[in-house]
Order: sequence, then structure tokens, then C-alpha cells
Amino acid sequence: MLDELNRDLDAASAEADRLIAEAAGLDELRRAESRLTGKTGALGRLLAGIGRLPAEQRGPAGKAINARKTEILARFAEARARLEAAGAGKAAPGEQTFDPSLPGAVIPRGSVHPVTAVQWEVEEIMARLGFVVVGGPELETDYYNFEALNIPAMHPARDMQDTFWLTDKLLLRTHTSPCQIRAMERLGPPLRVIAPGRVFRYETEDASHANTFHQLEGLLIDRNISIANLIAVMKLILAEVFRREVKVRLRPGFFPFVEPGFELDMQCGICGGGGCPTCKRSGWVEILPCGMVHPNVLRAGGIDPHAYTGFAFGMGLTRLAMMRYGVRDIRGLNSGDLRAVVPPERRRGFAIVEK
Ligand code: PHE
Repeated sequence: MLDELNRDLDAASAEADRLIAEAAGLDELRRAESRLTGKTGALGRLLAGIGRLPAEQRGPAGKAINARKTEILARFAEARARLEAAGAGKAAPGEQTFDPSLPGAVIPRGSVHPVTAVQWEVEEIMARLGFVVVGGPELETDYYNFEALNIPAMHPARDMQDTFWLTDKLLLRTHTSPCQIRAMERLGPPLRVIAPGRVFRYETEDASHANTFHQLEGLLIDRNISIANLIAVMKLILAEVFRREVKVRLRPGFFPFVEPGFELDMQCGICGGGGCPTCKRSGWVEILPCGMVHPNVLRAGGIDPHAYTGFAFGMGLTRLAMMRYGVRDIRGLNSGDLRAVVPPERRRGFAIVEK
């Protein structure tokens, strides 16, 4: 009989060792202890069974059980002391502890908008050529947007840029060219500046026209600047942006603030020159109007046109981003709809150029 009891006690003892080893904290340890030594636990049931034994066995059985119970309780006490020493149990029940070794919550990052990416890139290229980045307000005055740029009040050239007027003197700038005047006023000659920014036109929207888009104005003024300098810098910028020679063509273009003025076209990167809605089936995209700064504009900026000359360009950042990233519809750029981007296998020409 006592043999059988001892086997049960050995099993209870082994169970205690297992529970102690598995307990991850004080709470768990406490629960394991009361489960094993409580009334309904293994030891409790053995104690309760004493009453059913023949009278002469009750004494030795009780002794054996109690001795084992004391031993097991001592092992629990020891484990408790060990956990307490290790610092577990310091947190109040329900309180969270901070484990700096656990991996943090994953916060998905967004990515840079195609226009911003192209803007940063051009800024970097221009910085290497000694240009500094300047800015100007999106809410402009008639003076900076038109007047100072050699576009007087009744001049028909005002119709070239349909304007959102706020009052009869205030408007949403239709181009970044007002930054030319502001830069001349602020910095004086010689100067090399670029002015990236958002511009607004009162336009009917289609695949290649939006009422809000981005330009990057460039202005270089120094002594003896000629058209040769203009062409050289334009070619350099485009070759850098597209990381290869791009096919371009120059046409005469009219802008009151430059003389002579040019339209620089680039072979369409969406269709590779074959013709598509973005390039209006011509194979060419107007990317860069430019020209030599008009003497009246230099004067408006406080610069003597006899001492200094310069060139200016208005890069269509939005168009450039569309070419570069294969965005087929300009409206996609303001929509957040990722389907606006042409999948790589459908791109041709320089739209596929990657770092
Ligand atoms: N500001 C002109 C436009 O938006 C572009 C331009 C800039 C043309 C500089 C020539 C020189 O239409």
C-alpha cells in the first residue's frame, strides 16, 4: 500500500518540478502551486484518501504525504524567490512591462511623389552647376506675374495663360517666372537660381492639361551670356535628368519676357516618338520653353541690360515626371490612383531609365 502511495507522491513531485520549470512568472507559479497542493490537487486528493485506509496505515501514510508536501512547498518557495530576484513580478497586476528587445510595430512608409522625386533630382543637378533654390508665393500680384515680365495690362499675351483671378490685382501665379523678378531684386547680378513650384491655370483638364501643376524656373544672369550658353546648359540638364542623350528639337517660341524665345521639345517618352494621347500623337512633348532674358525684364529686376545678359527657362516638372515615370494621364498625379502609372513592360523610350 505504501509502495503505491510513494509512486503517487513521486508523480506529484515530478509534476511540481515540471510546473516550476514552465512557470513564466510569479502569477503562473502561484497558480501552479495551489493547483498541486490545494484540496483538489494531487496532494490534496492523497490526503483526503487517508480516511479510507486501514487504521494502522493512516499514520505512516499521513507522515509520508506531509513530508513530501513540505518538500514540494519548499521548492515552490525557492522558485518564487528566484523569480523575485530576477525582477519579475515588479509590475503591478495588469500593468504592462516594456521589453526593449521586442521588434517594434511596423509602420508602413509612404513614398515620394513622382513630381517631388524629379524636382529633388533636378535641384541636385542644378546645385552642381552652381544654381541656388529660391521660391516665391503661389498667391501673386499682377505686377510680378505679368507687369514686370513685360506683359502689360492690355497685352494679348495675357491670354496665353488663363488666370485664376482673386481680385483685380491678386491671382494664383500662372507660372514660376515671377520668381525671376523676386530673385533679381533680392540677389542682384550675377546670379544663378532655380525656382520650383506649383502653378495654376484656368484650363479645361485633359490627359495633358491640369489646372494645378509644377514648373521649375531657371535663371542665369552674368556678363557675356549668350544663346550658346543657354543651349549648352539645357542639353546638360536633360542628359543628366534622363541619364542619356535625349532627342530634342528647338523651335522659335514667343514669350514676352524673353528675346529670342524658344520652345524646346523632347521626343515623347511614353510612346517613344510613335504618337500617343500624351504627346497629342505628334511624338514630341514641349518640355522646356526658354530664351534670353528680355532687357525690359532685367530693368524691372533692377539690372542694367547693357552690363548683363542672361537666359531663363521654365521646365515643366509635371511633364518631366510623366515622361520619367510613365504616367499617362496628368490627372493621375493629383489623384493618388496608382493605376495612373504605366506598368514597366508597356513603357518605351527614356521612361524606363532607372538609377
Ligand atoms: N513662364 C513660361 C510659361 O509658363 C515659361 C518660360 C519660362 C518661357 C522662362 C521662357 C522662359 O509659359
